[in-house]
Amino acid sequence: MLLEVKNLGVYYYTLSGVVRGAENVSFSVKEGEWITFVGESGSGKSTVAHAVINLVPSPGKVVTGEVIFQGKNLLAMKPEELRRIRGKEISMVFQDPMTSLDPLRKVGDQIIEAMTVHGVDEDEARKRAKELLEKVNLPADRLDYYPHQLSGGQRQRISIAIAMAFNPKLLIADEPTTALDVIVQDAIMDLIDEMKAEGTSIYFVTHDISLAAERSDRIAVMYAGKLVEIGTTEQIIENPLHPYTRALVESVPDLWKESEVRAIPGYPPDLRNPPSGCRFHPRCAVFREKGELRGLCDVKEPEPVEVEPGHLVACHLYGGAGNE
Ligand SMILES: Nc1ncnc2c1ncn2[C@@H]1O[C@H](COP(=O)(O)OP(=O)(O)O)[C@@H](O)[C@H]1O
Ligand SMILES: [Mg+2]
Repeated sequence: MLLEVKNLGVYYYTLSGVVRGAENVSFSVKEGEWITFVGESGSGKSTVAHAVINLVPSPGKVVTGEVIFQGKNLLAMKPEELRRIRGKEISMVFQDPMTSLDPLRKVGDQIIEAMTVHGVDEDEARKRAKELLEKVNLPADRLDYYPHQLSGGQRQRISIAIAMAFNPKLLIADEPTTALDVIVQDAIMDLIDEMKAEGTSIYFVTHDISLAAERSDRIAVMYAGKLVEIGTTEQIIENPLHPYTRALVESVPDLWKESEVRAIPGYPPDLRNPPSGCRFHPRCAVFREKGELRGLCDVKEPEPVEVEPGHLVACHLYGGAGNE
């Protein structure tokens, strides 16, 4: 197993209270697979993605859990050790490349520096930067541009070129296409696919379940800081179990043929004070309709249960140890 996340919890200590950004999150990422995290905005996707590389921004703190990458707990590593891994064995691409690129320096110098900090000599890095630009389908003269002279899509290609520099074991891509139009979005997805073809595992984050369904091997669904369901793409799209996952799938016209498209009623909760029991229960159609679930879903937190091989769901409808 390339990456194993066990019982991860992340809280943000804000002036207005403790935000429970992620709790009891456990999953693993296999060598060479593409896993996508999906869920509405505020469900904890970025929180978990940041914790996986031990980069939770202040005032956030990892409060529980372990992140085992190639056998070592990233959350217990010294800063130098982490620096050796980040950008080399684990690369990251974010929604807005302006936040990771330096606006005052030419993009070529930034690609080169991403390699020289890891000990590649300058000439070699310069040569490699040209090849990387070609790989992401940008003309070589773009090396001399500043980030603001490039379009959003071109900037994202630069971030991917940097991410590709060392053929990493894992790419974490947090909504890398959300700010881009559909055509450019597709081209960026193709580049990520190329990284996968070269052996990189892809940890992708999106709020868009139809995008998740496109290229992922597995899908993990988050709601209100919790991982509520995980399975193969086929399991999640063809046989969604959690009422939240069902609602997400039903909200996309092409994914769900039998019923009309519906938006999920209500809003995600405030994570300073999440609902008791299952965090989804106030919005859950099944809870509202089935009287016998009162006193269970609104009281007791569901534990994940493996319903079919590799398909886990945390919902009282599926019983299991701790959920009866
Ligand atoms: N820097 C921060 N300070 C305080 N709360 C935060 C911060 N970042 C995220 N949160 C909160 O943590 C929760 C999860 O957010 P996030 O991980 O960004 O969700 P997503 O990426 O799924 O949209 C939300 O309630 C959000 O408001
Ligand atoms: Mg996010």
